[in-house]
Amino acid sequence: MEKIHVDLGAHAYDIEIEAGLLPTVGGKVAALLPKARKAAIVSDTNVAPLYAAQLQASLEAAGLAVVQVVIEAGEQSKNMTVLSQVLEQLATAGLTRTDVLLTLGGGVVGDLGGFAAASYMRGIAFVQVPTSLLAQIDSSVGGKVAVDLAAGKNLAGAFYQPKAVFIDTNLLRTLSTRFLHDGLAEAIKYGCIKDAALFDKIAGFADDAELLANIDSVVATCCAIKARIVEEDEFDTGLRMLLNFGHTLGHAVEQHFGYSGFTHGEGVAIGMYQLTARTEAMGLTTVGTAARIKAVLEKYNLPLAAGVEKKELLSTMARDKKKNGSSITIIILKALGEGVLQKLDWQQVPEYLG
Ligand code: GLY
Repeated sequence: MEKIHVDLGAHAYDIEIEAGLLPTVGGKVAALLPKARKAAIVSDTNVAPLYAAQLQASLEAAGLAVVQVVIEAGEQSKNMTVLSQVLEQLATAGLTRTDVLLTLGGGVVGDLGGFAAASYMRGIAFVQVPTSLLAQIDSSVGGKVAVDLAAGKNLAGAFYQPKAVFIDTNLLRTLSTRFLHDGLAEAIKYGCIKDAALFDKIAGFADDAELLANIDSVVATCCAIKARIVEEDEFDTGLRMLLNFGHTLGHAVEQHFGYSGFTHGEGVAIGMYQLTARTEAMGLTTVGTAARIKAVLEKYNLPLAAGVEKKELLSTMARDKKKNGSSITIIILKALGEGVLQKLDWQQVPEYLG
């Protein structure tokens, strides 16, 4: 078992990573939160049929009364209406301030369930049990919880840290190949910004079988990188922006296709490659970096381009919430494993976009 401590003072917690961890979560939650009597499992219509009964049994065996709150799977559920329905169900089930909410699912469930925990009775304990690779290595760690508004993604939310993150890597075995690779794009991102050895390791796997055979150590390395970054910059005002490598263009691609053309990881893959090809041509990035990124993305069937006019993506980017007045901070690579923040005037952006 890998255990990574996230040192955030009064809000510190552990991330535990182990294949086959799920049936032990109940006992761990009861030990962590001895005053809890009830547990709500927030999950979705894809994940609940696979894993909610097992989690419920483990919580009940540890003496907790359990209610399941199951939302429709998909990003379209990540809104204020569904949040309000979840909160009403917590109230109907009689959860009190000492009880606990567990999120069992991918990024949507973690973000929405976490925000429900942050707002129900002004905040109850929550525990993340992420089931997608993307959630296991990124969204379940660091306390960003949110729902989307009509005006954009994640526009209503909070920084609200979980009490623990329990990662059972066996759950990745039911993930489709497309969504395994979707999450892997974020792992490749960690390699790009902070850890060339991680990048090489992912690039060196022969196939998905070898990737899955080594997934515990990949997940642990990514979580440790994220934990160190979040410890430095919990509220995303500086270093944490490194995690946005590939995301400015990636978000624009996702948004352009109405969130149904490319997955999040696919958008990030396009963003990482396109930007690095540009910054390399501009002399800002070590020669050969873009080719190495291209090779690893191709290996895992991740896209390199969106097939959209750049000017269309630019106008979508102009609406990105990360745009701050007349400037925007993007992340570029000096070399593999060395991401840096670069503040640009808005008029410089087309040069970087290519
Ligand atoms: N997913 C980016 C962050 O947590 O800051």
